[in-house]
Amino acid sequence: MHVPPIPHLTAADPELARLVEGEAQRQHDKLRMIASENYVSEAVLEASGTVLTNKYSEGYAAKRYYEGQQFVDQIETLAIERAKSLFGVDHANVQPYSGSPANLAVYLAFLNPGDTVLGMSLPMGGHLTHGWSVSATGKWFNSVSYGVSRETGLIDFDEVRDLARRERPKVIFAGGTAIPRTIDFAAFAEIAHEVGAVLAADIAHIAGLIAGGAHPTPVGHADVITTTTHKTLRGPRGAMILSTEEHAKAIDRAVFPGLQGGPHNHTTAGIAVALREAAQPDFRDYAAQVVANAKALAAALVERGFDLISGGTDNHLILADLTSKGIGGKPAAKALDRAGIELNYNTVPYDTRKPFDPSGIRLGTPALTTRGLTEAQMPQVAVWMDEAVTAAVKEDDGTLDRIAGEVHDLLASYPMPGYKA
Ligand SMILES: Cc1ncc(COP(=O)(O)O)c(C=O)c1O
Repeated sequence: MHVPPIPHLTAADPELARLVEGEAQRQHDKLRMIASENYVSEAVLEASGTVLTNKYSEGYAAKRYYEGQQFVDQIETLAIERAKSLFGVDHANVQPYSGSPANLAVYLAFLNPGDTVLGMSLPMGGHLTHGWSVSATGKWFNSVSYGVSRETGLIDFDEVRDLARRERPKVIFAGGTAIPRTIDFAAFAEIAHEVGAVLAADIAHIAGLIAGGAHPTPVGHADVITTTTHKTLRGPRGAMILSTEEHAKAIDRAVFPGLQGGPHNHTTAGIAVALREAAQPDFRDYAAQVVANAKALAAALVERGFDLISGGTDNHLILADLTSKGIGGKPAAKALDRAGIELNYNTVPYDTRKPFDPSGIRLGTPALTTRGLTEAQMPQVAVWMDEAVTAAVKEDDGTLDRIAGEVHDLLASYPMPGYKA
């Protein structure tokens, strides 16, 4: 059963309610290992589903274009103050609708169309919005990309420096969507300062690890920091932009009125709750456990012959090239899903296959750590993954279904926030 219960929805729209219940059950029964996903707390769920969704609040606290902001102003201010205190920054904007608009706001704040941006290329682990060709950021700006070393799988700072010196970007993005190693924000800052670029750290994936002390912070190195709120930070789907005081006005103007209209106040409330949760001592334990689980899983996968990009992980995320297993990422991901293990197919650096049928898979431990799994279960997860990939090669659906049953049985002992059996 969905928690909090949805009796009104069930009565008013049983068809939709059935689908929501089905999704709750699916999230309960699957080992969810999509690196960008998590389970929010019931408090976050409740805050995100309140009457705040009824309210328009264009503008910022005490400077709105609509009346009736007596409570919304306080809610947004609470979220802002919590974000500032958690990350130790001068300024926070909690209005971006999601990570992509947050990054677009950085372009609007610091660049004009045609200006140069330097970001990590998508197939190497960067995000679409860091200037990739199919994104507006790649179409409207002169985008230059850096990657990782073919040998080590690590960011090649000599390449970043050479590109920055040659191309003189106005903005450099540090961060990405498939980076299994610690990001050296100080090294990026040195390069950005040398060429006079704004350093934007996109910490969407690792915000919760940073808040929990399990990854170095970009604060003090980056001029602006963008993040989603729904990955390791374990909040509702949304985003924030953090910055020094120097850039506060430019960022605020870019978000509203530059890109957006009214903020999603129900989401802002959910973000405020998630930030409060992330400031508690047990969130530090959570962040450390996410990394411990990923390291234990990576070691167990390597033992079973998986070829991991960079050889392992420092954070919550693992990127594996399945070429040595004799299967592409897509058929493997589909087989794993049937086996109750949910992850995504992904390009790997220097992939010779197409993005829709790449060589790799990407997986992570934020969600299963929220369920309460520890290092003790990671060898078993690696065994299941190995068996499922082998079964996929042999088209052995029986084995996949047997694993799905075992995954289901294991997860029955690990409660899911938002679901009651
Ligand atoms: C590093 C990074 N930045 C930005 C985004 C965009 O976030 P959203 O999907 O909320 O637009 C993502 C999403 O996966 C991401 O991984």
